[in-house]
Amino acid sequence: YDLSHNNTMALSCTARHAMMLDDIDTLGDNITTAIAFAKRHDLPLFVLSYGSNVILPSVLNALVLLPKIQGIEILQEDDECVTLQVACGENWHNFIKTCLDKGYFGLENLALIPGLVGACPVQNIGAYGVQVSDFITKVIAYDLTDGQKCEFGNTACQFEYRHSFFKDNARRYLISHVVFTLHKQPKTLTNYGDLASLAQEFANKNGRATPHPIDVFHAVIDIRNSKLPNPAVLANCGSFFQNPIIPMSEFIALKEQFADLPSYPINDDVIKIPAGWLIDKAGLKGKGVTPILTHDKQALVLTNHAPHTATQDDIRTAQEFIVRTVQDKFGVTLVREPVWVD
Ligand code: EPU
Repeated sequence: YDLSHNNTMALSCTARHAMMLDDIDTLGDNITTAIAFAKRHDLPLFVLSYGSNVILPSVLNALVLLPKIQGIEILQEDDECVTLQVACGENWHNFIKTCLDKGYFGLENLALIPGLVGACPVQNIGAYGVQVSDFITKVIAYDLTDGQKCEFGNTACQFEYRHSFFKDNARRYLISHVVFTLHKQPKTLTNYGDLASLAQEFANKNGRATPHPIDVFHAVIDIRNSKLPNPAVLANCGSFFQNPIIPMSEFIALKEQFADLPSYPINDDVIKIPAGWLIDKAGLKGKGVTPILTHDKQALVLTNHAPHTATQDDIRTAQEFIVRTVQDKFGVTLVREPVWVD
């Protein structure tokens, strides 16, 4: 089963077996069947959603499950809040658009992130000052060891920056639904970079005195389009490295050498610095190891210039080169963000 069109990095990948799951009524039974099949053939199961945060191998020795279930259901609603249960196969960006159309607010800062709803809790997607964990009240999943349906409240998901319980247990669960609680009063969060001024521009254009979540939505789309490559045009999987969190003493020493190093405060002991800046200042913007190059407008994103042909090995080579170059210049070790699949 060819998966080279099922991962946004467009890596060449063939899976032993694959099974599409697009019907909620038979989902439980199909998972039970898949577990039995995998056991019989001594194969692991592997859940592949939109493939926007994975680095797939040339041969994926697994039974790949492709969850595509659709549906958005209102569980509860009052004047302040709405609680929605959303099926895993819903497109993330379209879901945000639907919410804004209905007057459900909060997720607009996460516009245009490529992927499906079922994967959003796994790496706790985040952008422009918002993390999806701020709005998730429950995750419903199937345990692939025994086929049992289980539920995780927000705390049980163990959300952290770009991390969750599900990222640690990537192969164990198939997330079928995510439950979100969203605001019905239009609140906005625009304290990230120039988001506030751009959102205000959209508000003015739309005849509003102050930005509405819809203005923030359009501002985020503009910012992302100006910096981040559209995977449909240039294959990539978003940020390839996490922003490193380093000890304050190390930061002070670096700042003496590199006065323009940006930073985001965490607490008195540690501080977050942008990996994109480090890669850029190491002279690697638009560079890498052909065909895998950093994006020329955002060095944190690796792009694949040989779609459907390049392999995981090409990524490894480029990754090692970038990590080594940044390490030599700044003494900081970058850690990969997308999931590496063996
Ligand atoms: N920078 C450079 N050169 C570059 C890239 C960045 O100097 O080539 C500098 C920027 O000028 C800025 C700083 O680095 O001062 C941070 O850059 P930016 O605001 O573009 O955000 P980021 O830290 O690179 C993170 C997320 C993105 C998210 C944006 C906006 C991570 C790993 N990445 O990127 O998430 O969209 O903030 O919130 O946290 C993703 O996860 O796939 C992703 C795109």
